[in-house]
Amino acid sequence: MKIAISGSEGQLGLSWQNYLKGDLDDNEAKSSTIHPGYYEAKVYKSSDSEAIYWLPLNRKQFDLCMPESIHATLDRFQPDVVINTAAYTKVDQAEDEQELAFECNAKGVYALGKACMERDIRLVHYSTDYVFPGVEEDVLKYPSGYPETAPTAPVNIYGETKRMGEQELLSIEGDFLILRVSWLCSAYGNNFLKTILRRAKSHGHLKVVNDQLGVPTFTEDVIEQTLELLQMDARGIFHLGSKGMISWYDFAKEILELADINVPLEPVSSDFFPSKAVRPKFSKLSTSKIENLGITVWPWQRSCKRVVSSLKDI
Ligand SMILES: NC(=O)c1ccc[n+]([C@@H]2O[C@H](COP(=O)([O-])OP(=O)(O)OC[C@H]3O[C@@H](n4cnc5c(N)ncnc54)[C@H](OP(=O)(O)O)[C@@H]3O)[C@@H](O)[C@H]2O)c1
Repeated sequence: MKIAISGSEGQLGLSWQNYLKGDLDDNEAKSSTIHPGYYEAKVYKSSDSEAIYWLPLNRKQFDLCMPESIHATLDRFQPDVVINTAAYTKVDQAEDEQELAFECNAKGVYALGKACMERDIRLVHYSTDYVFPGVEEDVLKYPSGYPETAPTAPVNIYGETKRMGEQELLSIEGDFLILRVSWLCSAYGNNFLKTILRRAKSHGHLKVVNDQLGVPTFTEDVIEQTLELLQMDARGIFHLGSKGMISWYDFAKEILELADINVPLEPVSSDFFPSKAVRPKFSKLSTSKIENLGITVWPWQRSCKRVVSSLKDI
């Protein structure tokens, strides 16, 4: 199976690359002789399953805002699957750059979906909990998190453009997986976990909001759940993630404890950090649908421990 990973320099794109590379470093990653441009993955689902070859595509090689670059790259490398981790992700900036966010997250995703459909390529596209309203009342309405069927109603422009991207894909009859994730974390790129570790060391005192609820989702879990869905030939919308529901404050507390960093941590309300884009108060996605398919969903603490210990010297 030949997998092309768009957005390869973002958090999830880098995570995919590192997952498929296994314990090899960049120089050791083995180029495929059968499929030029691709690398051989160290990950095989089982001894008799198909080998995986992967191709990282950064923004220069594959720009969602330039359909011609999408067509040229797909024709040149002929992947079986495109894993689209690329997106306009600047949540606050999107309030001022609506057109650009729409161009990438809605129009670009439509162009990608169409291009994949025309070439019989499977598309895995990541979306977000921000498609939901995230109002406090929904904590009681959906105690185990938003199911895939809950009505969408984003509260900010970024969420709206991601919802439009989902709708554009659903309007095309393609072999698509739309995978919603929330509170993405990893050892790569930018995320809350890394910010907390850095700030704890530089500031010595942290204030973290305790009135937004959700669950951290670690990219390695996302990747493993994605691979399982691909193996099952699943199609449609699925929520990926971890078990549990906490606030950002609870998350910060656990990160500091695991890293053995002892600095004062103060819970504050969202009003303490005014932001341009409204943030949802409730972001938990229910993972019942994938669990019913037999996919394992781990408590968030499991991956948190692994990632914090890999970042001890940040
Ligand atoms: N991070 C989260 O907490 C979170 C939560 C829910 C859902 N998600 C979704 O998960 C996916 C991965 O997120 P992430 O955390 O990996 O985001 P990220 O770190 O911001 O990475 C996004 C990547 O997309 C690239 N990109 C931006 N515009 C592009 C374009 N027009 N064409 C091609 N590439 C473009 C960016 O390149 P530049 O660096 O050059 O801009 C960046 O490398 C996204 O779909 C996001 O919406 C993320």
